[in-house]
Amino acid sequence: PRSIWLSRHGESEFNLSGQIGGDANISERGELYARALPELVASSVGDDRQLTIWTSTLKRTNQTARFLAGSDKGYHKLEWKALDELDSGVCDGLTYQEIADEYPEDFKARDDDKYNYRYRGGESYRDVVIRLEPIIMELERSENIIIVTHQAVLRCIYAYYMNVPQEKSPWMEVPLHTLIKLTPRAYATEEVRFSANI
Ligand code: F6P
Repeated sequence: PRSIWLSRHGESEFNLSGQIGGDANISERGELYARALPELVASSVGDDRQLTIWTSTLKRTNQTARFLAGSDKGYHKLEWKALDELDSGVCDGLTYQEIADEYPEDFKARDDDKYNYRYRGGESYRDVVIRLEPIIMELERSENIIIVTHQAVLRCIYAYYMNVPQEKSPWMEVPLHTLIKLTPRAYATEEVRFSANI
């Protein structure tokens, strides 16, 4: 059967500094994950299936996928703007502490209703779910896609396949440096996680 592979980008410089959004490079540790990814994917594919790589337009997902695209398998790579991270608007580049200090009401509003809260000049999880609709439609009619994207976006895609109400997606656990293989079956989606231990 057809599967979908999901991964966050390797650890970024912003993950290290605790800043959100932005377009940072991956860190040294993130680079280790990028280099380990082709083997991790190979071990989870189990046969000679050809995968297509989808990334966002941001540097950290492209850097993470570049060895997959450049491997002897030479998977074809496609960039989607719709896979970019949730737009945090005026809070882009801030840490959660800075947001709490500079925009205390927003910080509380987001905590009260994380799914519907829309950053000033940015997006909510609800907005992301809507912009992901074409991605999901394309996924449904594609074979064997590996998606390298961002935490908020992955939560929404994951919730869709796991049949979890989208309102719960903002709190779903999607760790770094872990490849998630989803295989939709008649009654439920089968999930296997492969940790790179990096
Ligand atoms: O910290 C990494 C990150 O991907 C940010 O860029 C993004 O704003 C955040 O996670 C999304 O997670 P949450 O919705 O829990 O703040």
